[in-house]
Amino acid sequence: MLLFIIILLIFGYWQDKDLVLSQVEYSNESIDQAFDGYRILQVSDLHNSYFGSHQQRLIEMVKKSRPDMIIITGDLLDCRQENIDAAMDFACAAVEIAPTYFVTGNHEAASDQYQLLKKQLTEIGVIILDNRQMLIERGNSRLSLMGVADPLFATVEQLAQEGNYYQQTLESLISQGDGTFNILLAHRPEDFALYVNCGADLVFCGHAHGGQIRIPLIGGVYAPGQGYWPKYTSGFYYEGNTTMVVSRGLGNSLFPIRVFNRPQLLLLTLHSKNSEG
Ligand SMILES: [Fe+2]
Repeated sequence: MLLFIIILLIFGYWQDKDLVLSQVEYSNESIDQAFDGYRILQVSDLHNSYFGSHQQRLIEMVKKSRPDMIIITGDLLDCRQENIDAAMDFACAAVEIAPTYFVTGNHEAASDQYQLLKKQLTEIGVIILDNRQMLIERGNSRLSLMGVADPLFATVEQLAQEGNYYQQTLESLISQGDGTFNILLAHRPEDFALYVNCGADLVFCGHAHGGQIRIPLIGGVYAPGQGYWPKYTSGFYYEGNTTMVVSRGLGNSLFPIRVFNRPQLLLLTLHSKNSEG
């Protein structure tokens, strides 16, 4: 019995702490040749977890992936913890590797510490993309990069506005790109239909933690906002002109363990279709 418990603990620790780097490719003819081979590293749902002392193991893997850009798609901190050191240890190292962009998740919206985290992230050079759009340039070519704040940040006044505040925010951000290929950072994958309706080209999400427990050949068991047997937990989803990529993320929230669902860094390489033909 003792041996069984020890094996179970080792298995649980391995599943929770052994990082995986998933490398995926994405092609679209609207991507300019200048961005062919552009590497986007997604970090999601750290939840203040540590991977090595001062995030050493996490940082080494990020460095090795040679990203052109690092994107953090929410829940960098955990609202049940006061300490933001794990989040800042990672962010301080990330900005030294590549330009780093951040959008909030539901845990930032629920945390007393978020204003402090936001101040410190801004001071070290992390670009906060909550409800903000910007152009990424390479020579004369451009990508439109934008992020949407977690909907829990919406104020009572905003929610009382006529129409759907979240949808209007997304539409306005996407229109600012003026038809340039757009990349949206948004914490929640369950709003996929909205991203499709608003005309997003490529969306990066997290939040689902891979469904926390993954049953081989079936998928994730539970995700917030989607319930049991969630649809959007890992990998690519397509509808119309929109592709959504969902990271399984790194940390845990209320449910403290991951099963068959090791913490994931996702490296997506962009390709211009013209370059392949
Ligand atoms: Fe999360």
